[in-house]
Amino acid sequence: MARAEKRALALRARFCARLAALYPEKADEILQAQAMPRGIALLVLPWRAELAEAQAQLRQDGVPNEVLATQPPILFVPAHARASAVRHRLCEEGICYAMDAASLAVVMALAPTPADRVLDACAAPGGKTLALAAMMQGKGEIVAVERAKARFFKLRAVLARTRAPNVKAHMGDVRRLVPRLGAFSCVLVDAPCSTEARINPEDAQAFRYWSERKIAECARRQKSILAAAVKALADGGRLVYATCSHAPEENEAVLAWLLMRAPELSLAPAPNPLALPTQPGLCEALGHRYPAPVQQAMRILPSARNGAMFLALLRKSRAASR
Ligand SMILES: C[S@@+](CC[C@H](N)C(=O)[O-])C[C@H]1O[C@@H](n2cnc3c(N)ncnc32)[C@H](O)[C@@H]1O
Repeated sequence: MARAEKRALALRARFCARLAALYPEKADEILQAQAMPRGIALLVLPWRAELAEAQAQLRQDGVPNEVLATQPPILFVPAHARASAVRHRLCEEGICYAMDAASLAVVMALAPTPADRVLDACAAPGGKTLALAAMMQGKGEIVAVERAKARFFKLRAVLARTRAPNVKAHMGDVRRLVPRLGAFSCVLVDAPCSTEARINPEDAQAFRYWSERKIAECARRQKSILAAAVKALADGGRLVYATCSHAPEENEAVLAWLLMRAPELSLAPAPNPLALPTQPGLCEALGHRYPAPVQQAMRILPSARNGAMFLALLRKSRAASR
């Protein structure tokens, strides 16, 4: 066996052992769900089409779908029809956007309205930016920031194709840009992470890029992005922190750090309007303890309908109450 292959297998074993420790009764189910094909959500962009119109068009073209939510408008397509949905004219022409239901749940937890000014701190390729825009019915203002040049151009192409009317995109490091962007009533930090919850455990090669060292590096970056995001958040505002990692180092540990550093923030119970399978944030994991409020965060577990995500909803107190 080649050395690289051996290393990937060792990393896979380490990943599975961590998962078994995190989810003692559900690890096998989670591994299976991460490996299986799943359905896809289609966000119907309200400035481009009505939900019923998109639903009928897809059905007429043989793409089965059900309404998953109306605010924002979302259709759900089962796994066997996923490829035909993604290739459908409505997606190609930017009338619908195909994305994972768990990603939509993250934006629904922030629940921006047309009255909000929203910072999307880590925006590309832009699925959650569009979901924010859809929840705001194309009104209010979204500032979408992306640091990686190639990904920024993807974001810009997505915004152009979908004709998102209320989004301004900026290329740059959000930590540097924040002092120039003003204050926001809502901030989304969909943080760069180890993406371990998206790894297909049956593909040993996928583990070549996974390691506990990478998790630690991601956690450091997440903290520095959050520190900037909190500065951008207006008093009384809401912030959602999300990752697609199971690692407590990137989730509960980052939250515990944030709550200590920014006492003006408090965790609020994360809502679950799409009724996805979830469990609360962990107070104890992999030999570490975290403060009780982290239980208000939500671990979305993977299923036939959705991938896994971690999300936390935080509120910044008003200056008068501090
Ligand atoms: C998880 S992805 C975001 C996915 C996106 N929110 C979506 O739903 O399509 C994280 C993104 O943050 C970007 N990023 C990483 N560090 C950043 C920084 N300091 N400032 C702005 N963007 C950053 C990465 O390049 C990556 O595109």
